[in-house]
Amino acid sequence: MGVTEDRHRAWRAAGAAAAALVQPGDRVGLGTGRAAGEGILGLGARVREGLTCSGVATSARSVELAREHGIPVGPLTGPLDIAFDGADAVDPRGLMVKGGGGALVRERIVARAATRWIVLVDDPKMVSGLDEWGTLPIAVVPFAAEAVAHRLEDLAPTPRDQPSDDALTIIDLSPPAGSDWEAVADRAASLAGVVDHGLFRAPLSDVFVGHADGTWSPAG
Ligand code: A5P
Repeated sequence: MGVTEDRHRAWRAAGAAAAALVQPGDRVGLGTGRAAGEGILGLGARVREGLTCSGVATSARSVELAREHGIPVGPLTGPLDIAFDGADAVDPRGLMVKGGGGALVRERIVARAATRWIVLVDDPKMVSGLDEWGTLPIAVVPFAAEAVAHRLEDLAPTPRDQPSDDALTIIDLSPPAGSDWEAVADRAASLAGVVDHGLFRAPLSDVFVGHADGTWSPAG
């Protein structure tokens, strides 16, 4: 079996565990990316078995995937009962980088709206420090993108070609090894035009780690 198949099996296990927590009638936040996609598939399977719920998705591609799998999707109109999403890397304190897929702004909105927010990862994403991952995305109003990049020049800002679903410019920052990632995120967020950054935090008990053998366990 290739690595990719192992990883999808791991994400599927974590995603199914999150989908199993959804109660009848719940409003569910649906994340973006491969692991979140497995969670959406897991929820779709429960909907096919008769579960009634509705979703709020963090990206156009997650809206599409959810609808393909029979999950009704609508706008965010109030609190959500539960949400699940992926992450790029999670440290031993539950600090994590998100936004590999560029959906970080909607992901924060949905995470904050949810009573419980579950993070879906696999073993390779559990790192001893975020330096192991290395980049922190920020979402910037296009008008300010060049000026923001100039102010953050020491962090090797690299703009992505693709704008976000909200037409924001995504810029990847590369904090030097040993950086205080929370300080980097705060510094970026303080600049005019920066809408959000990809640094998130969750209790380790809500970080579901899928394993290559198809099982999962909480990170703490
Ligand atoms: C999307 O913007 C991201 O936050 C993803 O949830 C994150 O990049 C993890 O994606 P994968 O599950 O595809 O690795």
